[in-house]
Amino acid sequence: MLKKTILGLVIGVVLVGTAYLAAAQRGPGRRGPRGPGGPGAAPATIESSPIAKTDAEEKILGVLQDMDENQRRGMMNVPKEDGRLLRLLTETIGAKHVVEIGTSNGYSGIWFCLALRTTGGKLTTHEIDEGRASLARENFKRAGVDDIVTLVEGDAHEEVTKLKEPIDLLFLDADKTGYIDYLNKLLPLVRPGGLIVAHNMSPRQADPRYVEAITTNPDLETIFLHMHATGVGVTLKKRG
Ligand SMILES: C[S@@+](CC[C@H](N)C(=O)[O-])C[C@H]1O[C@@H](n2cnc3c(N)ncnc32)[C@H](O)[C@@H]1O
Repeated sequence: MLKKTILGLVIGVVLVGTAYLAAAQRGPGRRGPRGPGGPGAAPATIESSPIAKTDAEEKILGVLQDMDENQRRGMMNVPKEDGRLLRLLTETIGAKHVVEIGTSNGYSGIWFCLALRTTGGKLTTHEIDEGRASLARENFKRAGVDDIVTLVEGDAHEEVTKLKEPIDLLFLDADKTGYIDYLNKLLPLVRPGGLIVAHNMSPRQADPRYVEAITTNPDLETIFLHMHATGVGVTLKKRG
């Protein structure tokens, strides 16, 4: 009886071992079409990265990557995906003049410049903090875009009243309770067909007065994007 039990155990171990070895030899990529990671399975996510077309673009993307890896601390920069969105929107509408409120160290500004190099446009960006403004100047220079950037230092609530040129894209990314004031002061300058993009539109961060202003005006059309992250409001000015 004992002999039979031991024999049964040995046969069981040999069978399980053989099956395990056979599976290991097939490897993870050679499972059946229904198996995880097999040819029939959907990928968990689909991703893309910016591809430089020119040396100038490669230089700009290099500086953005360096800022991403080494300068984010304390700079409150937009996430990389939001930066890519800003670039895409700017290039799509062929913007010639982007106005940004809240430069920080210039990270989002450089994403705008990547597009503005193609559209032949320029960036006016506002920053109240002297230290961040000076870091932004350095970053614009090493990205090779300082010739298309005007950095205005000071309180943007006052400084924007000096702007006179039409705006194709207005980007709000400074004091959240100030968005409504920036909108009231600058909407008349935004051209019909232009965009107002507001960062930090998550319900926790957005100023309800701003949200109401952009969602109840029939001259504006707004969608909210990237709400799984910090949230971006994209508002089209349909008419003057
Ligand atoms: C969220 S950060 C901007 C980040 C930047 N857009 C980026 O993604 O790289 C906000 C910036 O707005 C600036 N700021 C706050 N209030 C301001 C004001 N009244 N006028 C100008 N800049 C202001 C802050 O000093 C800060 O650097």
